[in-house]
Amino acid sequence: MKILIVYYSMYGHVLQLAQAAAEGVETVDGMQAALRRTEEFETVNRVIDGNEFASQIRDKQRNIPVCTLNDLEEADGILFGSPTRYGNMAAQMKQLIDSTASLWLKGSLEGKPAGVFTSTASTHGGQETTLLTMMAPLLHLGMIIVGVPYSVPGMLHTEGRGGTPYGASTVAGARGELTPTAEDLEIARAQGRRIAEAAKKLRR
Ligand SMILES: Cc1cc2nc3c(=O)[nH]c(=O)nc-3n(C[C@H](O)[C@H](O)[C@H](O)COP(=O)(O)O)c2cc1C
Repeated sequence: MKILIVYYSMYGHVLQLAQAAAEGVETVDGMQAALRRTEEFETVNRVIDGNEFASQIRDKQRNIPVCTLNDLEEADGILFGSPTRYGNMAAQMKQLIDSTASLWLKGSLEGKPAGVFTSTASTHGGQETTLLTMMAPLLHLGMIIVGVPYSVPGMLHTEGRGGTPYGASTVAGARGELTPTAEDLEIARAQGRRIAEAAKKLRR
């Protein structure tokens, strides 16, 4: 069985969470993770051309295939990862979700487990609003939302880092200078493991 992890990442933080979630998926017997990125806008590509750091991150992702509707249809469960843009998901992710009308008509995603994860620049930059609003279209598509329970180590904390019951998260810093903490990555792994286990149970 396959869990699709589709994400958008400009500076690499959501990418790191996606990779950790993929590791978590593969700790579950018989479960495979497929990592896919969303398509970049040409206008943003031109901005990235002039930014050395973002260009390096873009190059790092060249071998990760762009997500197709077929990838969404084939998956037994899907995790969606997006950086926060004004308290909401990035347009690159919304573009993919808005291209699923044909899947909605057929009910192709109904009954599949889904989860979300994000990154913000600042501690209170809107992780929860992004995660909760990312869930709305997934509910329209009939997906079954899977979060992160507080039994996962590192969830109950008061530190300046990520980890929410709505999904894994991380704080990137105003210039993207921070990296996900060990706890952020462990929570993303736990989210990957949990959606893989949920997909298995739902199949049974
Ligand atoms: C247009 C735009 C809007 C943003 N809005 C927010 C925001 O509302 N809150 C916040 O904390 N960070 C915001 N950021 C910062 C991004 O969330 C941050 O760059 C991202 O989490 C890094 O993830 P990445 O490394 O995967 O690209 C914004 C960035 C851009 C370019």
